[in-house]
This record gives sequence, structure tokens and C-alpha cells, in this order.
Amino acid sequence: MPEIKLKNISKSYDTKTPVLQNINLTFKKGEFTVLVGPSGCGKSTLLRILCGLETVSNGEICCDNKSITDLEPGKRNMAMVFQNYALYPHMNVAENITFALKMAKVPAAEIETRLQQVLAMLDLHKLAERKPKDLSGGQRQRVAIARALIRDPEIFLFDEPLSNLDANLRVQTRMELAELHQQLNKNMIYVTHDQTEAMTLGDNIVVLAEGKVQQTGSPKSLYESPQNLFVAGFIGASKMNLIRGKFLYHKAGSIFEFYGIQLKLPEKFSAESAASMHQKEVVLGIRPEHITLCAKGVLADGTAGLLPMKVILSEYIGHHYHLMANLEENNVDKNSMQNNPARFSITVDSVNDIKVGDTCLFQLQTRKIHLFDAETEQRLPEQMI
Ligand SMILES: Nc1ncnc2c1ncn2[C@@H]1O[C@H](COP(=O)(O)OP(=O)(O)OP(=O)(O)O)[C@@H](O)[C@H]1O
Ligand SMILES: [Mg+2]
Repeated sequence: MPEIKLKNISKSYDTKTPVLQNINLTFKKGEFTVLVGPSGCGKSTLLRILCGLETVSNGEICCDNKSITDLEPGKRNMAMVFQNYALYPHMNVAENITFALKMAKVPAAEIETRLQQVLAMLDLHKLAERKPKDLSGGQRQRVAIARALIRDPEIFLFDEPLSNLDANLRVQTRMELAELHQQLNKNMIYVTHDQTEAMTLGDNIVVLAEGKVQQTGSPKSLYESPQNLFVAGFIGASKMNLIRGKFLYHKAGSIFEFYGIQLKLPEKFSAESAASMHQKEVVLGIRPEHITLCAKGVLADGTAGLLPMKVILSEYIGHHYHLMANLEENNVDKNSMQNNPARFSITVDSVNDIKVGDTCLFQLQTRKIHLFDAETEQRLPEQMI
């Protein structure tokens, strides 16, 4: 198991728009790393660069401290599983799986032993004689994985391998991949644009956007401390609420002011280092599950920090409701709303029966808020959580 390092990797197809910019990453031994980001951000390009199907414009790829930047693909000991399976239609499952070994002139007896092993591992025994057209999407996917597996590479590269599968099969194949990783203990680098897939599969997640690494870390660290607005909005199955407002520094308790409402912030934002942010535009981030339902059917109870809202959408998910609710205009500065109602996405326990049109009092769990500089879009450094 090697350690792979990408040092200052850049890639441009033309001089104007670099597809990848100064990528520095370490893929540790045996780690499952997920590269996640929106369409077109450069994920596949990075994977193709890793396995040598694409050249770099700048930078170096190192494998255990040795440069492999100019090494041809066949010598990199990596196997890639492509999104579209790329199976040979005229060959059956067994022939598809063993093709690369035959080309490499591996002795027939050894090929047969390895074939039986991977067929067993991926539960493909009964399908060995079938052609790809006679397989389901999930089965084809397993054949594509088996074809990588039989080569026994040091590193597996997966480019959105589950995107053609239906929702149930995705969850099942995801678990199989996680199991396979535990069994093999090999480096796996997995590309997806689906943040849920990234969160559930990765030991380590790399968030990419516009050809740049936005943040790297464990699923928990990305969820709990997103370093910029992009990661804050991208990670999390229900999107984080992002609200623009003003930061007012006070030694005795700083304030976030939005739509004429003043919200007292936790103590850490009164640290001296936060003084330079006084009067600056900031963006407050709060996840839907960090907004508490305090009362239903009332618009005020005199307690500071409670936000009156009207429910405009109520989705019953089973164990919870997902709500969209607007701040009630009577209670906030109408001028500052400017036809732009302050709308929150909120998750509440389904023991509360909430319908469209209900008016409720909500409270933001201030310990769970995230603040970002509106100009730089970076997380304020005071939040060392
Ligand atoms: N051969 C090429 N010539 C010119 N531009 C290219 C080439 N290949 C990719 N690109 C551009 O590079 C950018 C990144 O492409 P890439 O395929 O890496 O994105 P991606 O993150 O994998 O997207 P998706 O999630 O849609 O698969 C895109 O803007 C794409 O148009
Ligand atoms: Mg791609």
C-alpha cells in the first residue's frame, strides 16, 4: 500500500481556463478518499491524471516519495472503474473480467484461480457465462469492479461508479464497496458529485469546486466546521440556511443583526480577535436540525431570541418534518426584507404535527451557528469548535 502525493498539480486544456489549480493532496496508505464536487469541477480530470490517462500541465505526482508523473498508465499499478462500466459487449462476464490478465500473458491456471476468487467475492458465480446485455445495472457494475479487482492493483480509482443505479441498489452497492475496502485494505479513491455518498463512504473527503480544493477532512469535520461558504452549502443532506447580516462586536456579547432583528451570539464571538469584524457584513449559517420549535400557534411570548415564522411547506419524512418557514413580516423590519422574505429550512420531530399556514416560534441554537465573512466567504477564525 503506497502513499500518493499530488504536489501543486495544475491542468489547462487551453491557456484561459485552468481545469485544475494548484492541487496539493495526500492519499494515505489504505485510505478511502472521496473526491466530491459539482459537475465540471475537475474530478474526472484529477482521477485520469492519477492513473496516467491525462498529462499534467504543472506539478508532480509521487508514489511513496518517487515521482510517477511521467510513468505510463500500465506501470502505475492502479485500476480504474469507469462510470459507464466500459464492458466488452461480445464477451461474457468471465471473459470481461479476465481480459486484462490474458493480455498480460498471465498463465491460464493462475487466471482461473483469480477469476474464481473475484467471482466469489462479488457474488457473480452464477452469472459468469452471461453477456453484459443480459445483466442488470447493478450486476454490470459488479463486473466492472471485478475486472479491476482481479488485477490486484495497489490503488483503486472509481469514477462515479454508482450513478447509473437506482436508489436502493446504490445504497446496497455502497455498503458492498465499504466492505470490500475493509477486506482488501487498499487505497481507494472515489469520485462522486453526491455529498451523501461522500459522507457515508469516505474516511477522508476532498471537496473540489472550480478546479480548486475547498476543504479536506473527515465527514464529521466538514459537517461541523465548513471552512467556507461553498462547503457550508454543499455538505449536508438538507442544505444549511445561509443568512446575510451584520456583525456587531460587543465585549459583553456580540450581535448578529439581520432584517432588523438582533441575535445574541455565543461568547467566543466576543473574543478580542473578533473586534476587527465590527460592522462587517457576515453570513450566518445554521443547519435545519439546529433550529428548535419552541411554540406552536403563537407569534410572540416576550422571550428574546425567539423568531416568529409562518410555515409555507411541510414535508412529512417519517421521523421528522422538513419545513420551510418565512419570518413573519409584522415582527421584522420590512424595509430590510425588500421583497425577499427571510426563509428558513427547518427539521422538527414528527411528534409535532405541523401544517402549512401554522405560525410558530423558533429559536436558532446559537452554539451551532457558523459565521462567514461575506466578502472573503471564509469562516471566521473565532469558531474553534
Ligand atoms: N479534453 C478536454 N478538452 C477541453 N476541456 C475539457 C476536456 N476534458 C474535460 N474538459 C473540461 O474540464 C472541466 C472539468 O471536467 P471533468 O470531466 O474533470 O469534470 P467532472 O468534475 O468530472 O464533472 P462531472 O461531475 O460532470 O463528471 C470541464 O469544464 C470540462 O468541460
Ligand atoms: Mg466526471
